[in-house]
Amino acid sequence: MRNFLFIAFTTAVFSVLILLQFNCTQQVEQKMLSQEELIARGKYIVHTGGCGDCHTPKIITANGPIEDTTRTLAGFPEGEMLPPLDVKMVAPGNWYTTEKNLAAWVGPWGISFSANLTPDNGTGIGGLSEEMFIKTLREGKFMGVGRPLLPPMPWPTIGQMTDEDLKAMYAYLRTLKPINNKVPEPVPPNKLAEYFAKK
Ligand code: HEC
Repeated sequence: MRNFLFIAFTTAVFSVLILLQFNCTQQVEQKMLSQEELIARGKYIVHTGGCGDCHTPKIITANGPIEDTTRTLAGFPEGEMLPPLDVKMVAPGNWYTTEKNLAAWVGPWGISFSANLTPDNGTGIGGLSEEMFIKTLREGKFMGVGRPLLPPMPWPTIGQMTDEDLKAMYAYLRTLKPINNKVPEPVPPNKLAEYFAKK
């Protein structure tokens, strides 16, 4: 019995050691991605991760909205106004709602408009460094240092990606066609009635 326990114990210890060794070797072997591979990975994450659901304007088809690929990730279209809304519908505890592009969102936080993620200098993230892009998504602050990002931008989950994945997304976004589209400033809750009265 003693012998059996001894053998079982040593086997367990060796298995752990072998597993540890295997893990270390794997880490050493994980190679750095080339710039091209990084961009391809970023493209994969952005397009399977659903960024365009909110950040790309839509074309309305018989089967519902599809992404307008001439404006990929350009954000809520400049100059568009939201259709009329009874603001009581979005009082705390009631509804959150959106419009035809799925790019503007109304709720107790007011109206949030999806940002322009193309590398345009004045209206997109052209001036945003990789470091500040990562800070934006990790800390949920506009341009990395500004006001807190509003719902429904899912930064608390996106911000949990690895540094490499966030860098990959940034690298891919830099390769997009820059689109000049100045997304409106958010509308605070106390200005909702005024915004919808403008219609
Ligand atoms: C459910 C809708 C939604 C999804 C999905 C979404 N976003 Fe957003 N995003 C928003 C909204 C709305 C804003 C604007 C928030 C604000 O103005 O406070 C925003 C803002 C941002 C900003 C801040 C821009 C700036 O200039 O600081 C970045 C960066 C961003 N999103 C990246 C992404 C990426 C990358 C993905 C996909 C992995 C993504 N978003 C998915 C809705 C969304």
